[in-house]
Amino acid sequence: MKYGLDFHNKIVLVTGAAQGIGKSISIGFASLGATVLLVDLEQNERRMVEIVNTADDVGGCAELFCCDITNDASVDKMLSDIKHQYGRVDILINNAGIYRTGPSVEYSYENWDRTSAINVRSHFFMSTKIAKHFMIPAGRGRIIFMSSTAAHFGVPEAVAYGVSKASTLQMTKALAAEWAKYNIHVNAVNPFFVATDLIAFFDEKTVESIAQKSPLKRIANPEDIVGGVLFLCSDLANYITGVHLDVDGGRTIAGS
Ligand SMILES: NC(=O)c1ccc[n+]([C@@H]2O[C@H](COP(=O)([O-])OP(=O)(O)OC[C@H]3O[C@@H](n4cnc5c(N)ncnc54)[C@H](O)[C@@H]3O)[C@@H](O)[C@H]2O)c1
Repeated sequence: MKYGLDFHNKIVLVTGAAQGIGKSISIGFASLGATVLLVDLEQNERRMVEIVNTADDVGGCAELFCCDITNDASVDKMLSDIKHQYGRVDILINNAGIYRTGPSVEYSYENWDRTSAINVRSHFFMSTKIAKHFMIPAGRGRIIFMSSTAAHFGVPEAVAYGVSKASTLQMTKALAAEWAKYNIHVNAVNPFFVATDLIAFFDEKTVESIAQKSPLKRIANPEDIVGGVLFLCSDLANYITGVHLDVDGGRTIAGS
């Protein structure tokens, strides 16, 4: 066995790829030779064009697909185009997500449903469709769910988000158990706070106090999350499935 990270000849689909963690993951895969299929909303097309250029610069390649992953017809059309063009998807990164907070007694049905639709439902059906049409016929595949340390903690005013991320961990375990016979490995990555637009509504003082809760005394950059994802999708993780990896600066072991 040759130890190392190499994604040449791998087709990797990343949702929520236009910015933040998804962008860094996409560039990380491209830098190791992968062909990356960037999936994000149409409004982020310009950002994805820039990532396509960066992917080229770092030695891989990327193509963008504008798609709202909660729109079933749009997902089906995209997957049909991918089948026609590439014939396979080797690795799926279920990364797109939203974080809508608010006092629980004021929380709207709309925010609950949208959180659930993006963070849970779309990830389940993206996984089942890609497993059915690409990974099961190929007899192999890797799927990563981007969960969160919010799955472990009771975070005030973030019930819908926490529930969605805890659901993701359950999905990881159940699908890993169900699809091991197809040689499809399913794992999750749990970041703590990462400096992206998702948490841009927090003021600087709050972010600093949150950072102090991590033993490493800082929040993450998006690039900090990439290594765990690449590892779990590589041959180095051939005997790992159904786990979650806390990429959290030690936050989870630090208690409250
Ligand atoms: N930033 C953090 O502190 C943090 C911590 C833990 C987990 N996470 C998780 O990491 C993932 C990425 O978060 P981020 O911080 O990079 O957020 P971000 O807001 O920077 O990026 C999220 C991306 O998802 C895309 N997206 C949202 N809805 C979509 C849809 N319906 N269809 C297609 N694309 C859609 C957005 O357009 C955006 O480009 C999320 O699942 C998030 O919950 C983030």
